[in-house]
Amino acid sequence: MSDLRETYLKAIAEATDEAALEGLRVRALGKKGEISLALRELGRMSAEERREAGPRLNALRDEITSALAARKAALADAALDERLRGEWLDVTLPARPRRQGSIHPVSQVTEEVTAIFADMGFAVAEGPQIESDWYNFDALNIPGHHPARAEMDTFYIHRAAGDDRPPHVLRTHTSPVQIRAMQAQGAPIRVIAPGRVYRADYDQTHTPMFHQVEGLAVDRDISMANLKWVLEEFVKAFFEVDHVDLRFRASHFPFTEPSAEVDIRCSWEGGTLKVGEGDDWLEILGSGMVHPHVLRAGGIDPEEWQGFAFGMGIDRIAMLKYGIPDLRAFFDSDLRWLRHYGFAALDVPTLHGGLSR
Ligand code: DAH
Repeated sequence: MSDLRETYLKAIAEATDEAALEGLRVRALGKKGEISLALRELGRMSAEERREAGPRLNALRDEITSALAARKAALADAALDERLRGEWLDVTLPARPRRQGSIHPVSQVTEEVTAIFADMGFAVAEGPQIESDWYNFDALNIPGHHPARAEMDTFYIHRAAGDDRPPHVLRTHTSPVQIRAMQAQGAPIRVIAPGRVYRADYDQTHTPMFHQVEGLAVDRDISMANLKWVLEEFVKAFFEVDHVDLRFRASHFPFTEPSAEVDIRCSWEGGTLKVGEGDDWLEILGSGMVHPHVLRAGGIDPEEWQGFAFGMGIDRIAMLKYGIPDLRAFFDSDLRWLRHYGFAALDVPTLHGGLSR
């Protein structure tokens, strides 16, 4: 019997998996197991023999049972340890760069522009991309017969036959947000409005959808001088140069009086654009003093308030800053292009942290 004990305890200690343990259990304690059979023999023994063998056999059965349980638990622990070692994962590792998405240059530049103007006290205003022709045109001093309507290659939203309400349009510029912001906030006001605009046009520098940022500042004593300073500050910060020459060219927009187009000094030497030096000029935006009709359409009294406004192409300045030659590629969703021109997802542009890094 001490043989039995040793044989089983040894076999249990050496078992390397649950199936082996189960085999040992059946061999020792199953219906026809060695220990079970021995226990059954007790019935045939004399009372004296039984008194001696009974407790020993019972103790042996208990000992084997707990040895099996202990070994089973030890094997399970070892298996878990093994798994934890094998499946170990350092959750503090940075994400793999090739699996990371990137930020589109238009989004990046919109963030840059927003950061710069926020620093000068401009909030962000928004308006719908499907706009009434009143907001897109009339309120901006562009009446029905005005040639600017034709010039803008407007997309009109279809109306059912017999529905002769004035049409809605895909907004052709961000300027209608000026009106909405004035109506919502009154004066004084300082906002920019970045967003999508639409015109039926398509070539290397024109796409049917593109992005503009509108600027509007209305207060009691705003002048062209304020406009000039704000734009100079913007251009220096955006192109990350210490000095820029801006050229204000007299121009005409229905919604401003006087109006100016603004060019920036640049050089194209060696085929690459450098901002702030050279003898070339590049147009970057339209601007002017807000026309009294426009202030009135926004619910602001032009006798009491005046302001400046400007409108700039975001895609355009993104192309200039990051040397992107073809506008159409912006909207092709070509991953190779995005990998080349895109920005790291967590590099949010701020004035203190750096705009473009
Ligand atoms: N809305 C004009 C355009 O799309 C740009 C513009 C010019 C906006 C002068 C302005 C402005 O606010 O004052 O071409």
